[in-house]
Amino acid sequence: MIQRDVIVACDFPTLRQTTQFLDLFTDEKPFLKIGMELYYGEGAEAVRELKRRGHRIFLDLKLHDIPNTVRRTMSVLSHLDIDMCNVHAAGTAAMMRAAVEGATREDGTRPLIVAVTQLTSTSEDTMRSELLIDTSIGDCITRYAMNARAAGLDGVVCSPLEASAIKDACGETFLTVTPGVRFTDSTADDQSRTASPAMARELGSDFIVVGRPITAATDPVQAYRRCLSDFLQL
Ligand code: C5P
Repeated sequence: MIQRDVIVACDFPTLRQTTQFLDLFTDEKPFLKIGMELYYGEGAEAVRELKRRGHRIFLDLKLHDIPNTVRRTMSVLSHLDIDMCNVHAAGTAAMMRAAVEGATREDGTRPLIVAVTQLTSTSEDTMRSELLIDTSIGDCITRYAMNARAAGLDGVVCSPLEASAIKDACGETFLTVTPGVRFTDSTADDQSRTASPAMARELGSDFIVVGRPITAATDPVQAYRRCLSDFLQL
């Protein structure tokens, strides 16, 4: 049984800025999301350093390539001892199966692997006119989630507002990892379809990914604790 948790999106350009932010946390070791900016800027050493500091890590690199390349890359990433990573479901079921194979370590363990279905920046119009996918965006997201489940993945990244439809299609134990989380009394920034931590919990999110409401807060530790208690209903 996977434990629900809050994942802090550390969208900082350098490891130094990331660790300065994390030094604020003296009592907790938040689960972190590290993205392409930090990974491509600082490399695998950034992941090793954050693991040494005791954090769990969701490495958000959204792999999408031929199955053989994804298998081999996943093996490298998995040996960094990351806890979660992701691929694009558009890469096909064969690519997702290869991701699971590559991520599986010699001792049989592996990080959780979740799929990106359609990016929230892609509108239904764009999906139809540019990607030539002739269906509703909701159907596409659900079908991609079902493909991910059939390929052996653990879940998908989605909006909290999509979580219950995905659970209906793929089962309760299929994980939903949801960004787009905002406190009801804070700014939405550039996110358009948001839910509060408590709402995300009600809607079936297993992990909420929260960036600026924590990283840009006057008191990030207090904001993190508020997220945790609202989401976990402590
Ligand atoms: O600062 P904020 O809470 O908006 O950060 C959300 C994080 O989740 C960012 O790292 C963003 O790139 C990521 N994300 C997202 N929406 C998606 C997929 C990822 O906001 N659909």
